[in-house]
Amino acid sequence: MATAKEPAAGWTVELDTTPGRRQAQEEFVLHHADGGDERIVLHDYARVYAVPGLYEEVVQHRLQCASPATVAAALVEAAEAEGRTAEGLRAFDLGAGNGVVGEELRARGVTVVAGADGVAEARDAAHRDRPGLYAHYLVGERLDVGEVTALVRDEGLTALVAAGAVGEGHVPVDALAQLWDAFPPGSFLALTLAGGDDGQDASDVEQMIADTAGSEHASRTVVRRRFRHRVSMAGDELHYLVLVAVKE
Ligand SMILES: C[S@@+](CC[C@H](N)C(=O)[O-])C[C@H]1O[C@@H](n2cnc3c(N)ncnc32)[C@H](O)[C@@H]1O
Repeated sequence: MATAKEPAAGWTVELDTTPGRRQAQEEFVLHHADGGDERIVLHDYARVYAVPGLYEEVVQHRLQCASPATVAAALVEAAEAEGRTAEGLRAFDLGAGNGVVGEELRARGVTVVAGADGVAEARDAAHRDRPGLYAHYLVGERLDVGEVTALVRDEGLTALVAAGAVGEGHVPVDALAQLWDAFPPGSFLALTLAGGDDGQDASDVEQMIADTAGSEHASRTVVRRRFRHRVSMAGDELHYLVLVAVKE
């Protein structure tokens, strides 16, 4: 176990450093200052988001998660490579959690309009931690494509962003494909995907992009690179792929 003190949070976190765990199995102990220990599975997002600052402490600080900043920077890089500006993009943040990605996008000039997550606790935490960041926040494990299509049209959305939220038991690739279909030509799809170059999630998404070849509005990859997503609780480096495609 690795322990650290968080100032004035009313709790401390102790990571379970047992080696060999998959991401979905990683756990930590939340020590409440007023007594009591709580063992929490990191992927129990509803519980994690319910404690203000806990997601940032564990995922951003202790596990050094680079996905939010990486996906935001790659989106802007791809837009500029296509002769577009960050300021011209209007983003839908899928698997948005409590808004860490939205904040990174906004810091780079992207207009963040909508978020979505599988659990209502994420929506509540986003409004609690980053009020005003998302004008719309949808909740559902499988979003209503008609609702998303109307939102994309009515709000002029041009970027579908998902950091650490596709595959690995999160948003299934076929659901991502349906949502991406709702975006108009000229839109960007910006993702971080488990497994670096050899991951199944990454190859499923790359296949999804390849399958659009020959269609009227094919998707074309603009940015594709491996990066260090975060460290595991056991201290191993976890590499992901950052992928940005544009719809012709
Ligand atoms: C690793 S977290 C990443 C959160 C955020 N993107 C970030 O980087 O800070 C994955 C998020 O995806 C959400 N999620 C999982 N399955 C989902 C689904 N089917 N639809 C939408 N969101 C989902 C989880 O609730 C969680 O908030």
